[in-house]
Amino acid sequence: MEAPAAPHDAADPRTVEITVNSPEQMRELGRKLAKLLRAGDLVMLSGELGAGKTTLARGLGEGLGVRGAVTSPTFVIARVHPSLGDGAPLVHVDAYRLSGGLDEMEDLDLDVSLPDSVVVVEWGEGKVEELTEDRLQVVIHRAVGDTTDEVRHVTLAGLGERWQTVDLSVLAA
Ligand SMILES: Nc1ncnc2c1ncn2[C@@H]1O[C@H](COP(=O)(O)OP(=O)(O)OP(=O)(O)O)[C@@H](O)[C@H]1O
Ligand SMILES: [Mg+2]
Repeated sequence: MEAPAAPHDAADPRTVEITVNSPEQMRELGRKLAKLLRAGDLVMLSGELGAGKTTLARGLGEGLGVRGAVTSPTFVIARVHPSLGDGAPLVHVDAYRLSGGLDEMEDLDLDVSLPDSVVVVEWGEGKVEELTEDRLQVVIHRAVGDTTDEVRHVTLAGLGERWQTVDLSVLAA
């Protein structure tokens, strides 16, 4: 007889690890992840310079069907990409220069509300967690130190109630 599945501990994030072999695969992962997202979701993208955070965010934008390619926002902290259909807009935040955390975010005067948007944040550690207890943390690691190597290890962890019932393993398929 099979042992019953252990009851899921809500404090324990649901985690999946995926190996990505190229920038195109990273975009594809973003397109797949977009299918799991809905308005109010917060996705935090972590990883060193050039890890592939913006590349993943570009795939998210494609999957969500929003206007404009997601690029590195050099002079702006946040950019709103409205939906081309009736879906949620994508708010792409580069928190690198965001010193004041959430307050500064609110001062950005975006013409969309964050609960109505899918919010994707690069460099958000320690700055945007208070936006919501529910968040998807995505960490991208280079497989080797060599910056020309295209292999990345991506760990996705869903924190909070929102993610308890989401099967992230579909992303690995
Ligand atoms: N598997 C991969 N996934 C994503 N990008 C890759 C991969 N392999 C190579 N690259 C290259 O690495 C670079 C990643 O750049 P990207 O802007 O996405 O990184 P980033 O993490 O957003 O950097 P930053 O910290 O400057 O914001 C691109 O030039 C991309 O072509
Ligand atoms: Mg970037």
